[in-house]
Amino acid sequence: MTLKQSLGVIGAPIAHSLSPLLHEFIIRQYDLPFTYSAYHVEKESLAEAVYGAQALGFRGLNVTVPYKKDVMSLLDEIDEFALKVGAVNTILFSEGRITGYNTDVFGFLHSLAVENVSLSDRDVVLLGAGGAARAIVLAAKKGGARSVMIYNRTYEKAAALAEKMGCVAVSQDYFTAIPDHAVIINTTSVGMHPNVNASPLPQTLFRADCLYIDIVYNPQNTLFLQYATHAGAQTVGGIGMLILQGILAMEIWSGKSIDLQQNFGALQDLLRRALGAQ
Ligand code: ATR
Repeated sequence: MTLKQSLGVIGAPIAHSLSPLLHEFIIRQYDLPFTYSAYHVEKESLAEAVYGAQALGFRGLNVTVPYKKDVMSLLDEIDEFALKVGAVNTILFSEGRITGYNTDVFGFLHSLAVENVSLSDRDVVLLGAGGAARAIVLAAKKGGARSVMIYNRTYEKAAALAEKMGCVAVSQDYFTAIPDHAVIINTTSVGMHPNVNASPLPQTLFRADCLYIDIVYNPQNTLFLQYATHAGAQTVGGIGMLILQGILAMEIWSGKSIDLQQNFGALQDLLRRALGAQ
């Protein structure tokens, strides 16, 4: 019998994480020699948790809120792209070394590809200016966006991120004169469970010809996406990004390439059912 190596996700809170369900499915589907669990880690125990996992012979960890930045100082090596993003969501333990990666950005881009949506030559407007926004700015650029604008509740943060990333900060007025067929991406946590009755944009500013993407996946149909659908616009929710960042992490841990489309539908159903039951 092959010895199974441990994988897990660390964060706080972690009780409602869908990662174990997602990864156990992938492990079963591809008969990979791993087990995967969720671990609640307090901030002061972060280093002990990472080094403890290494000592216990773990193959890797996913890192989620609020540790994607904090964990970086604990690693031996950080992938160039994760450095650019400024966040690590995947750790690999290999040959005595700890390496950090970020699979969120490509997870996001692959999820758009799976949903037959492209950012190429589109004008992209991001809502939010935090860590997630930074990752999505990079994704928009990699995805070939013609322009990237940042709108944030606190304008100064949008201006600071825009300056760092070589894009432009805009005020809410921008949405009244938005370019045709623009892509509007919510990177804030507004509308996330349990505050489901909130949208990062007022309903009056939604338009039929734009594409609206939300990286929030709980609930699946956020108020932001409901407003977009009501306006007659196309929408993409956050479950696809969750699935694909996970599959890309599993590729890093297993060293195998995994077909990104093959199980997408089944995983979507599985996670949607789990969200419905929460
Ligand atoms: P993350 O790393 O997940 O992006 P973050 O760095 O705390 O988290 O950033 C959260 C983003 O959501 C910020 O852009 C924040 O806006 P502010 O910069 O004005 O704080 C935005 N955000 C959070 N709650 C919000 C709310 N109720 N309305 C509008 N924006 C909100």
